[in-house]
Amino acid sequence: MREKKVTTEALRQMKVSGERIVALTAYDYFLGAALDAAGVDMLLVGDSVGTVVQGHDTTLSVTFDQIRYHAEMVSRSASRAFVVADMPFLSYQVSEEEALRNAGVLFKESHVEAVKIEGGREVANTVRRLVSAGIPVMGHLGLTPQSIHQFGSYKVRGADESESRRIREDARALQEAGAFGVVLEKIPAGLGKIITGELEIPTIGIGAGPDCDGQILVTHDMLGLFTRFRPRFVRRYAELEAEIRAAVARYVQDVRTAEFPGEQESY
Ligand code: KIV
Repeated sequence: MREKKVTTEALRQMKVSGERIVALTAYDYFLGAALDAAGVDMLLVGDSVGTVVQGHDTTLSVTFDQIRYHAEMVSRSASRAFVVADMPFLSYQVSEEEALRNAGVLFKESHVEAVKIEGGREVANTVRRLVSAGIPVMGHLGLTPQSIHQFGSYKVRGADESESRRIREDARALQEAGAFGVVLEKIPAGLGKIITGELEIPTIGIGAGPDCDGQILVTHDMLGLFTRFRPRFVRRYAELEAEIRAAVARYVQDVRTAEFPGEQESY
C-alpha cells in the first residue's frame, strides 16, 4: 500500500502497474477516518447518502447543499485517501456554467479533490469545462442511479449488443473529455473487462466484474448497516445493524432493570 496521499496521478500509475484501487463511500468524519486508516485509496461522498442515510428510495432528492455538508466532513477525515464528491441530480445538467459553479464550491469550500458526474457523451462538454478549470472529474456509466426512472428497473445495463456498444463509446467520450477515471455500475463482467482494456484511465467497478482497475461498494451495504435490500454485487464484511440492535437491546434491558448505571459508572 502506498504511504503517500493518493492523487489522480497515483491512480493512473496504479492502473499501469496493475495495483488494484480500493474505493468505498463515506458520508461523515467518523466513517471517513476509519476507512482512511484501513487503507482505502478513494472515498466517494456518494449521493447514495439519500438511500442509506436519509432513507429515501432513490438518490434523486439529495440536494447540492447536503453533498456539500457531507463532503466537508469527509475531506477533513482523510489524510491519505483521495476524496471525490458526487454531483447530485440537477447540480450539473442545467448548464455547463452551473456545473462549474457547483463543482467549484465542492472543490473550494468542501475541499474535495474531484467530483463525479453520471452520464456519457451528453455530459462530455461539461466534463471538459470542469477539467479545463482544474477540477478532476470521474465519470459514471452503466446503471446510473439518477436515471432510474428512465431505465424503469434496476436490471443489468449493457447486456445487449447496442447498449453495450453505447456504453463503450460513452467511456471513450469521457476519457477524451479529460475524465481521470470512470465508475462502471451493474454491467456484465465481460463488458467491464473490455472497457477496462480499452481505456487508459482507471475503471472502478460496482457490479462490473473482477477485471476493473478498482472496486467500490457502498460502505453501509458492505458493513451490513443498510439491510433493506442487497444487490447481488454486495459482499457483506460485517453485520453491524444486527450488532447495534443487540447492543442497544442489552442497554434497554440494563436501564429497565436498574443494572445500569452501577457503582463503577457513578460518582
Ligand atoms: O452514490 C454512490 O454511492 C455511487 C456509488 C454506488 C458508485 O455513485
